[in-house]
Amino acid sequence: MYVKTFFNLFRSKSLKTSIDQLPYNYVTPAKVSPIRLVPKHIMRPDYVKSGLIPPASRDVDFLEEKDMNSMRHVCRLARQILNVAASELKVGVTTDYIDEVIHETCISFNAYPSTLLYQEYPKSVCTSVNNVMCHGIPDSRQLQDGDIINVDFTAFYNGFHGDLSETYCIGNVDETGRKLVDVARKCRDEAITKCGPHQLLSEIGNTIHKVASKSGFVVSPSFLGHGIGRAFHCQPSIYHNANEDVEVMKPGMSFTIEPVIVEGEDNPYIDDDQWTVMSKHNYRSAQFEHTVLITDSSVEVLTRDVDEEFN
Ligand code: MF3
Ligand code: CO
Ligand code: CO
Repeated sequence: MYVKTFFNLFRSKSLKTSIDQLPYNYVTPAKVSPIRLVPKHIMRPDYVKSGLIPPASRDVDFLEEKDMNSMRHVCRLARQILNVAASELKVGVTTDYIDEVIHETCISFNAYPSTLLYQEYPKSVCTSVNNVMCHGIPDSRQLQDGDIINVDFTAFYNGFHGDLSETYCIGNVDETGRKLVDVARKCRDEAITKCGPHQLLSEIGNTIHKVASKSGFVVSPSFLGHGIGRAFHCQPSIYHNANEDVEVMKPGMSFTIEPVIVEGEDNPYIDDDQWTVMSKHNYRSAQFEHTVLITDSSVEVLTRDVDEEFN
């Protein structure tokens, strides 16, 4: 989730890199295809039915046992759908095609792609390449050798949302790019190991800050994790940068951890399309996201892949 923070307004400017000298392709938004249809029988979130912007939920949606099972289910589905799209990523493929694969796979499971018509967002997934930091709209641009692409997908099934993303390397990515991707994954995963009942929420951001800065990268303070469940975005807000949040994780909380790690200090800005968050200094960023659930005894990583382990 992207928020304009106080920090952005006053950050010092670092040197703007000329786009001709970048060791990767500088990305700008391209042509967006028409809205894809969802069959009538598939259950939609309220914000799609009403066309209204969902009011920012100020509450934590504490989950009961049967809700937890629904969350486990939708998160597993979301993971499967993302993995199908990931297997199609290669040089020459458009991000619009990735959206088509996500969309068709999602509706084949009778699930709704949560982003489609969320505050007028026009697609079923976000695809953010190189200097696009997040909320990239899938379009006619073909993936190029050396791109890094974040694919961020949320599914809605049986009344609950499950949200995850990964950053993938296309072809031969330079060493800094590969390291950025590895460190971004490590930031999220180390933070997850600090989660559990009665742990401080601030452990998440403080851990991510340590991991990123040890490798010379920067955590963007503008992207927050969020509570999730019946609502796509609700409390608690999860800060990924170093912070002193005094709140603790409580059993029944489900939230995302989704740090954006940047090559250098940066100010994000929003493109004229009102969605695409671009890096002002043309830096690349990488992001990984999981939805987690705090139980009485531990943390469950609901969107984990079959071969992922956390301990
Ligand atoms: N999946 C994103 C998140 O992690 C939200 C995307 S909202 C959209 O919170 F409208 F931009 F798609
Ligand atoms: Co999210
Ligand atoms: Co997401």
